[in-house]
Amino acid sequence: MKTNEEARRRTAVVTGAATGIGAAITERLAGQGMHLVLVARDGARLEAAAERLRAEYGVQVSTPALDLSHQDAPSRLAEWLTDAGTEVDVLVNNAGASSLGPVADSDPARVRHLVDLNAGAVAELTALLLPAMVARGRGAIVNIASTGAYAPAPYAAAYAASKAFVLSFTRAVWAETRSTGVRVVAVSPGPTATAMNTRRMPGKREPGAVADTVISALRGRGPAIVDGRLNAVQTFVFSRLLPASTATRIAERSLRKAALGS
Ligand SMILES: NC(=O)c1ccc[n+]([C@@H]2O[C@H](COP(=O)([O-])OP(=O)(O)OC[C@H]3O[C@@H](n4cnc5c(N)ncnc54)[C@H](OP(=O)(O)O)[C@@H]3O)[C@@H](O)[C@H]2O)c1
Repeated sequence: MKTNEEARRRTAVVTGAATGIGAAITERLAGQGMHLVLVARDGARLEAAAERLRAEYGVQVSTPALDLSHQDAPSRLAEWLTDAGTEVDVLVNNAGASSLGPVADSDPARVRHLVDLNAGAVAELTALLLPAMVARGRGAIVNIASTGAYAPAPYAAAYAASKAFVLSFTRAVWAETRSTGVRVVAVSPGPTATAMNTRRMPGKREPGAVADTVISALRGRGPAIVDGRLNAVQTFVFSRLLPASTATRIAERSLRKAALGS
């Protein structure tokens, strides 16, 4: 276990960092004395969050504003980090978007945007920052997936598929790196009370609880963790006990009403 003084020299990059789950994670990491690089599109909102974290925890916080769904954004972030001389100890790929509705009624460009952000940017940022961690023999990458990763989700098809990619990709990279000293892990929240999910749902969790799970995942060993006991049971049933066709039908029933109101 590192002392706070040692942790103070470490830096975490958190995407989607100014709101919801990302903001709660940055709060925990700043509380450990880590310097932060906060990434999202809204630069003013990032800077407001950074001001608060600097004042409260005395850590250094930078705020490169980027749209991570853009093809060149991950490499621009990596260049920015190199130019700033920032050695990244922890990467949290948290930025994400969701959409509800049948694919046939969706804007095709928005479907592509969602996949580029939720899956493409996660894979590219992992591939960009992992080599230096492996070379140093330490570091951590947390990829935020979702309980939606564990079964197809009609009316949230691209979202669930993008998170299934994150989960599968992360499990595989975990296996590739398990003897390198680098920790790679997927954390899957279920319904969490953020701007992304304003629906009234039983058992909804708070962003702070998810952040606590992320912090304990950093200390753990396995490749994938589901946030919350109820969510863990649900994903186990959906992915291990039920046939895919049944799991899909159940997901369809619960999402259809939310998407179509009927
Ligand atoms: N809330 C839930 O029920 C739930 C459940 C399972 C998984 N998750 C996952 O948890 C993660 C965090 O979501 P949240 O619930 O905390 O939602 P949120 O409050 O809406 O946060 C999403 C964050 O991502 C950033 N973002 C969105 N599009 C971006 C883009 N194109 N480029 C860069 N940053 C972008 C947003 O900032 P800007 O708008 O400033 O860019 C925002 O800070 C996501 O990966 C989500 O899929 C959430």
